Formats: sequence, C-alpha cells, structure tokens
Amino acid sequence: MRFMTRRDFLRTGLAAGAAVAVPAASGRAAGANEAIRLGLIGCGARGNVLLSHFARIDGVRIGGLCDPDQRRLHSAGERFANAKRWVDLREMLDDDRIDAVVIASAVHWHALATIWAVQAGKDVYCEKPMSHNLREARLAAAAVEKAGKIWQHGTQQQSDPMRADIRRFLHEEQALGKVLSVRANRYAIRPPIGKRDAPLPIPEEVDYNLWLGPAQDMPLYRNNLQYDWHWDWNTGAGEMGNWGVHILDDVRNNVLPGNVGLPRRICGGGGRVVFGDAGQTPNVHFVYFDTGSVPVVLGLSNLPAEPGSRQPSPHTGPASGYIAYCEGGRLECLTAPWAPGQAAAFDRDGKPIRQFSGAGGDVRHERNFIDAVRSRNAATLNSPIRTAGDTTAWCHLANVMARAGRPFSRAEAGKVDDPSGHWDGVLEQMAELLRTHDLNMESDALRLSSLLTVDSATEQFIGPGSEVANAFLKRTYRAPFVVPTVASAHNRGPFPCA
Ligand SMILES: NC(=O)c1ccc[n+]([C@@H]2O[C@H](COP(=O)([O-])OP(=O)(O)OC[C@H]3O[C@@H](n4cnc5c(N)ncnc54)[C@H](O)[C@@H]3O)[C@@H](O)[C@H]2O)c1
Repeated sequence: MRFMTRRDFLRTGLAAGAAVAVPAASGRAAGANEAIRLGLIGCGARGNVLLSHFARIDGVRIGGLCDPDQRRLHSAGERFANAKRWVDLREMLDDDRIDAVVIASAVHWHALATIWAVQAGKDVYCEKPMSHNLREARLAAAAVEKAGKIWQHGTQQQSDPMRADIRRFLHEEQALGKVLSVRANRYAIRPPIGKRDAPLPIPEEVDYNLWLGPAQDMPLYRNNLQYDWHWDWNTGAGEMGNWGVHILDDVRNNVLPGNVGLPRRICGGGGRVVFGDAGQTPNVHFVYFDTGSVPVVLGLSNLPAEPGSRQPSPHTGPASGYIAYCEGGRLECLTAPWAPGQAAAFDRDGKPIRQFSGAGGDVRHERNFIDAVRSRNAATLNSPIRTAGDTTAWCHLANVMARAGRPFSRAEAGKVDDPSGHWDGVLEQMAELLRTHDLNMESDALRLSSLLTVDSATEQFIGPGSEVANAFLKRTYRAPFVVPTVASAHNRGPFPCA
C-alpha cells in the first residue's frame, strides 16, 4: 500500500492546522536479512558522528543525506558516495528507497520532521531534545503512535548497560533504601556567541528558507549561523534542552521511583548574564521540580568560577550529572552521554560501597533502534517516545521558569517549600558565583517564576501566573512549515491548545 506522502498531505490542505486523522503508514517493513536504508536529516557535527555509528551496524546502508547547507551536504556526501543527496527533506521523505531517517538538524525542526517522517512511513531516530516546545513534543508523540512507527530519542547513555545496573541497585536491590531527593547539575563553561552591529549575512550555500523551516525569519546578530542556534529561543532550547535533557533523562529513568510523568509543581529562574552577546537562553539557571515524591533540584551554569578562570562554577557533586540522596547513603552519577558511564555509591558515613563503570551508549543505542526497526517492537527501545516526551517537557517547563518570571527576589525564592534543602543550596551557590562576576542576583538580569502548578491532564500551568507561562509552551509557525495537530493516540488525550 502506498502511504500518504508529504506532498499528498499538503495537497489535501490537511497540514494547515486543522485536526487530522492520518492513516497509519505501512512503509516497507525490512525483513530480518534486508538492508535498512537510512537517510540523514542534518549533516552537521552530530549528524556525521551518527553516520559513523550507524555505518558500523550490520545490515545498515546510508542511503540518503539531506541538508540545506550545500557545503555540509557535499562534505557528508564525500564520506558516503553512494548516498543520494537532497536539500529539501520533503523530497527525501517522498523517496521509497529510504526506510528510516535520522534527525540531527537544529531543534526547531525536530518535531515537524518527526511528524512528516512517520506520516511518510519512515521510522525515526531523533536527536535530543525531541522538540522546540512542549506542545510539539506531544503532537510528535501522538503522530508516532498513530502511525505505529519506531522512534528513538538521541539520549544514547540509556543504552549504556550501567544505567540498568543503577536501576537494579537503587530499585530492585534497594541497596541504599528509599531515594529521598536529587540534586542535578550542568556546570560547564561556554563562550559568548558574539554581538554584531549588522545582521549576519546568510552564507550563499545555505537555502535559508529550508534552514529556517518553522522558525521566524528575523535578523541574527550572533557570529555563526550553525550550532549557536541553540542559544536563540527562535531555534533552540538553550543549555537546558541541550545538556539538561541528558541529565534529566538520567534522573527520570534511573533514579525516580515509579512512573513520574510531568512534575506537579515547578519553580525556577535564571538569565543570560555577563556574556553581553546576542544569545537569549540562560547561562545560569536553577529549577525546583516537585514530582509528588522525590524532590529534584537542578543547577546549571555556563560561567567560569570567576572571570578568566578555566574552572566551572562551584557546585555540589559531579559537574554534569546528579547525586541521588537516599536513606542509606548517596549515589553520584556522571552524565557524559558519549563516554562510558561512571557512578559511585557511598554509605551514610561517606564510605564508597560500590563503583559502577559503563561501556558507553554510542553504537549500542543506534543498534537498539535498528533492532526495533527489524522486530517492529517499540517496547524494546531504550529511549522511546513517551519517556523522551516527558523528559523534554521537563526541560521546556524549566525554560518557561526563566522566561515568564519577574526580576529575581530572594524573598520570593525563599517561599518555595523544598523539603530537601537543595533549592536553598543552589541559590546560595548561584549568588556566590554571580558575586565573583560583580553581579547581584537581585537584578533585572535574572528572572524568577513563582511556584507554578502543572496540570498533567492538560499539560498546562494552572493557577496564579499560569496565563503568562502557558504562552511559552507553544510557538507561532512560519507557513507552510506548520506543525499539524494530530488526533491524539496519547492516553492523556489531545493537547488542549492544539
Ligand atoms: N546526543 C548527543 O550526544 C548529541 C551531541 C551533539 C549534538 N546533539 C544534537 O544533534 C542535533 C544537531 O546538533 P549539531 O551540533 O550537529 O548542530 P549543527 O548546527 O552543527 O548541525 C545541524 C545541521 O542541520 C542542518 N539543517 C538545518 N535545517 C535543516 C533541514 N531543514 N533539513 C536538513 N538539515 C537541516 C544545518 O544546516 C546543519 O548542518 C541537535 O539537536 C543537538 O542537540 C546530540
């Protein structure tokens, strides 16, 4: 059966935003011995790494490459001379010789590319974060489930066998007793991205209409088009969506007991300080997640410990990772997605009682996806769509805290009833860090949202302050690159503002 292609879809006018029921795609189900032909969407740094990983898996062929940047397309094409090249992903998706796609474009494309791909009958490996905003994550999840396709999130550390060891240790063996609280961290220095006087000229080799896709067309004042889109709300989700997503995925999947979806309440703040560049997303960020059981506090900073230093900001625990505080001690885990995992457990006196060493998730994660493509069993995926959707939603909710808030006030922040004490700890560390950069936390440069309640049924904030915050859960699209509403196959029902 021929599936509904993107062109058919656009021709029917269904993509314009009305709720649509898309027929489940059949696609070509690859048999056990048949090669799986992959198409890469986004031939940047990560896309090239993924090509190398997938090319190492038996029975995988790199069948297609797509990038609106001709230079990048050409350079990936030199590595895979037999792969067909496209500038427009819609044409790749229309090609029946591509079975599955790998999405490693900038974040603003992830959800729409996922939706178009599954509707065109392709399975999808999608880099993190799976969406630019919360609403899109839900729509993409609904589309994947409706189409019955295999979809994996690029949080590759979940395929490092160490993660399963940690789950066993904490939850099955209950080796440290109950998990009481979590402190999560992302502390790493990043440089400013420049602030030009005149808008950045778009390189001639880039088809900018396709590069922009769903994002708004507005002048850019940073120095580079590629990669630094992360730090612009129009195209990225900041460090929270870049690294926070890996760390929160570890916390949610491996540490939190039971089935925690969205946090019940959330408070947080942050801002972009010191850099004086054209970026918008926070380079200091602090968030309290009330999960209803284990409180989670995350601290994030891209500033050095002091001006000119090569040391990251002071923090408790690993620079990227988490500490799980438990009745019988603590577990510290480093989250470095491409490296073999490392973690250690300590008893209540601080004595090491167990070391964990992983084998890394690279290639294993890609193989886990390919195995599911062959078996058609999504239950075997290590980073499936719903888990990805919830983790990504945590990041988006955290970002809203820094965008919707008012100027930071210590007195307001002190009203948060965090039983773990980590919230006060992270605020003190941030205040100390900013002092070394000659900044007072109580300034307009930092925002703070009040403690907001999240309604998990509607996936919206409710109560005082919710109206402003809810506006950040979705975006305005640049036609015709509109994320369509999809009659939800999600058991939480359709997203209300779809
Ligand atoms: N899992 C990991 O460890 C890991 C590591 C690095 C990056 N990533 C993720 O990978 C993604 C890409 O990151 P990057 O560092 O390679 O960024 P990048 O800017 O170097 O590359 C993105 C590429 O996407 C291309 N692109 C833009 N619009 C496109 C379209 N419509 N069709 C096809 N290609 C398009 C760009 O031209 C660019 O070449 C991001 O989501 C990032 O978060 C994941």
